[in-house]
Amino acid sequence: MFSRSVARSSSTLVRGFASSARSNRKVAVLGAAGGIGQPMSLLLKTDPLVTGLSLYDIRGAPGVAADISHVNTHSEVKGYEKDDIKAALTGAEVVIIPAGVPRKPGMTRDDLFNTNASIVRDLAEACAEYCPKAYIGIISNPVNSTVPIFAEVLKKKGVFDPKRLFGVTTLDVVRASRFLGEIKGADPKDIKVTVVGGHSGATIVPLLSQTAQGKDVSGEAYKALVNRIQFGGDEVVKAKAGTGSATLSMGYAGARFANSLIRALNGESGVVEPTFVKSPLYESEGVAYFATNVELGPEGVKKINPVGELSAEEQELLKACLPDLAKNIKKGVEFATQA
Ligand code: NAD
Ligand code: LMR
Repeated sequence: MFSRSVARSSSTLVRGFASSARSNRKVAVLGAAGGIGQPMSLLLKTDPLVTGLSLYDIRGAPGVAADISHVNTHSEVKGYEKDDIKAALTGAEVVIIPAGVPRKPGMTRDDLFNTNASIVRDLAEACAEYCPKAYIGIISNPVNSTVPIFAEVLKKKGVFDPKRLFGVTTLDVVRASRFLGEIKGADPKDIKVTVVGGHSGATIVPLLSQTAQGKDVSGEAYKALVNRIQFGGDEVVKAKAGTGSATLSMGYAGARFANSLIRALNGESGVVEPTFVKSPLYESEGVAYFATNVELGPEGVKKINPVGELSAEEQELLKACLPDLAKNIKKGVEFATQA
């Protein structure tokens, strides 16, 4: 389904997964039987860079693994459930985590905190024990808090490496490129929008002024586009009417993030993905984690790019983002340090 050689950029899976010199990576998915876990695992099975796929969930992952394992690509797929997490994580080099409950209409992502914080904490403990050197991508919401929780647990266990922990915000840039493409009548594959900040409402800050196709969007059209990017998740939650949130587009975005990470680990240069990482950019304002374009390398985070030049509107968006983000981060850190 995906070509091995067409693309060497992180831009889109539509152009095909890129191949690279070293094609030997074991990826674990935690929450693999869920709405995101299943399509993302399927896409990972079609990625030639993934040689081993370890699918874990508290229930249902062996069935999902048996199903996906029949797809005729070279990777080995194994499924694990319940207490089998040690076997699932042992030897994993990349771990992608969509475990946790999704929103229903009327809820914010922060409303998921009470349930998902402890799920993420427990999974962090397991990763610290069984794959302390893995590169870990967190999808579980609220990302603005779950990433700090994960980091604090790894710190407590003495295995935190800020270069190896990522909040997956890829869906925000996927949406931004699609929504801008729609209003411009352009192919989204040619549109890259930088989105910075965090992953919820006002903390999502699209930098349209830095995009050739976006810089002349103004007035009501600009406001509507920013709002749609910031609240794209709510659009899906509403349309799914109580049955969950974005799963298929997130599966796509999660698989794209994993592919970019693996290409960089394999030595490909110039791989840039937006991601929510431990970042010095706004630390003095209480924001120790922040999403910007991050250059990935064999060590994980290679270079954190600054936000660049902002329009007056974007400066206002950033001003609104930082205090909310600081609160979300503090909540996560406090939960993990008190637990
Ligand atoms: P889902 O309910 O369909 O699937 C979640 C899966 O996690 C279930 O299969 C469940 O059994 C499993 N699970 C629960 N506790 C677990 C544990 N301790 N260990 C392993 N697995 C466990 O939900 P979904 O639609 O797949 O969404 C999952 C999460 O991803 C939600 O928190 C959602 O808000 C978030 N999400 C994030 C983004 C993003 O952009 N980062 C996008 C969409 C959804
Ligand atoms: C999204 O952006 O789609 C996810 O964070 C899920 C949600 O709750 O909106």
